[in-house]
Amino acid sequence: MQDELRTIEEQALKEITGAASSQQLEEIRLKYFGKKGVVTQYSRTLGTLSPEERPLAGKLINNLRGRLEEALENRQQELESLEAAAKFERERLDVELPGRRPRRGHPHPLQLIIDEITMTFLGMGFSVAEGPEVELDFYNFEALNIPPEHPAREMHDSLYITDNMLLRTHTSPVQVRTMEKLYPNPVRIIVPGRVYRRDALDATHSPIFHQIEGLLVDKGVTFGDLKGVLTVFVRKFFGEDRQVRLRPSFFPFTEPSAEVDVSCVCRGEGCRICKNTGWIEILGAGSVHPKVLAMAKYDPEIYSGFAFGMGVERIAMLRYGISDIRQFYENDFRLLSQFH
Ligand code: FA5
Repeated sequence: MQDELRTIEEQALKEITGAASSQQLEEIRLKYFGKKGVVTQYSRTLGTLSPEERPLAGKLINNLRGRLEEALENRQQELESLEAAAKFERERLDVELPGRRPRRGHPHPLQLIIDEITMTFLGMGFSVAEGPEVELDFYNFEALNIPPEHPAREMHDSLYITDNMLLRTHTSPVQVRTMEKLYPNPVRIIVPGRVYRRDALDATHSPIFHQIEGLLVDKGVTFGDLKGVLTVFVRKFFGEDRQVRLRPSFFPFTEPSAEVDVSCVCRGEGCRICKNTGWIEILGAGSVHPKVLAMAKYDPEIYSGFAFGMGVERIAMLRYGISDIRQFYENDFRLLSQFH
């Protein structure tokens, strides 16, 4: 029996030291100490021994049990610390690993253009004014010398909300609103904003687009001042070598009125952008019509002024070489991420 127990012990110790995981070790424990375990079976045979043999055999089995349990316990502790170390290694955070840079947002290309134009005029002493996008017919048309039934209303395909309220078709209504507020002080404002027209979406038109309005009212303002201010703007925005050209035009709220062109990058040699004319139209302008001044209480005999209005999308297309206005509204990240 002693020999048998020694063999069992050697075998069990070999298995215990060879156990590779707590689970394996548990299996070994059951193999020896479970209900039908090898050592358990041996203990059961004690009853069959003679009273003389029993104490010695009992002692041998107990000693064996004690040594194996100790070995199991030691191996268990070893395995636990190995497993903890492995888990720690798996979950280890490399605090020196370079972080992932968060993607920084940036302004939309149209906003960049609005900001740049605004800054140019702020530099000339203008300040920014705003007005509502849902506008009264009065400010959008009537106060701008466009009475009901006036044919100029045809030029703006409007989106009406009620009989006398619409989505503004241009930023010009803010001219009158600001003059009303500032009278009798001089006015020197620019008005960036969103405007709406019942135009079909195509490569150069959108039903929602942006304009920047300019208005300067004071004593002794001339048409020459208009050309001077616009020339400073054009040279700052497009380049010092650019020329400005004014062509006669018509707007009900300015008299005289002009379309303003800027000389093309091709320097008149002719290219696709200027359609071989050497000039690109960028805005409408003129001297503020006396009726518009009078509508806002400024006496046209004392005060005079000039106004201009430009389409932001059109200028952004020129600046960035974008040929389709729809690209501004599609939120295609490949396009937008090029503008920082
Ligand atoms: C006006 O809206 C006048 N209020 C401008 C003005 C202000 C003149 C002050 C005189 C004094 P017009 O309808 O031409 O003018 O529009 C101005 C610009 O808006 C155009 O030159 C064009 O660049 C842009 N625009 C007009 N319709 C659209 C559209 N559907 N989509 C994109 N841009 C447009």
